[in-house]
Amino acid sequence: MSNIEQTLSIIKPDAVERNLQDQIKNEFKNNGFEILKEKKIHISKEEAEKFYKVHESKPFYNDLCAYLSSGPIVVMSLQKDNAVLENRKFMGATNPKDAEEGTLRKKYGISIDKNSVHGSDSVENAKIELDFFFKD
Ligand code: CMP
Repeated sequence: MSNIEQTLSIIKPDAVERNLQDQIKNEFKNNGFEILKEKKIHISKEEAEKFYKVHESKPFYNDLCAYLSSGPIVVMSLQKDNAVLENRKFMGATNPKDAEEGTLRKKYGISIDKNSVHGSDSVENAKIELDFFFKD
């Protein structure tokens, strides 16, 4: 049975800065993800704080929000069968050091902060995160 889902992907400032967005978009397309929507934006620190609110209590919250708002990002709505889980597998572990060969973070990530891509971690959060960036 098919289980078509949509998930939010972000190409983070470190990857946009290195001009990797087209390469990363092609990686998604070549792995069966359809890019339904996309936009390149530069968000404020306040917007980043809202987006990452679930991490509010973490010691890395301030740096994380400063980082996501430090330069342009590309936000995308990706569609695939089981897109949420498939995207998480394709990104690899949060820390590029721990990511498996062939994953995006292994290939492009620099550090746990500059890990090149973000992806929603559940179907519920995917809806919230897609609305955050794409609700009219
Ligand atoms: P992301 O998937 O965008 O979700 C939250 C981000 O916090 C994560 O990727 C990392 O880039 C960043 N981060 C920084 N430090 C940590 C940490 N110790 N554990 C988890 N995430 C961290």
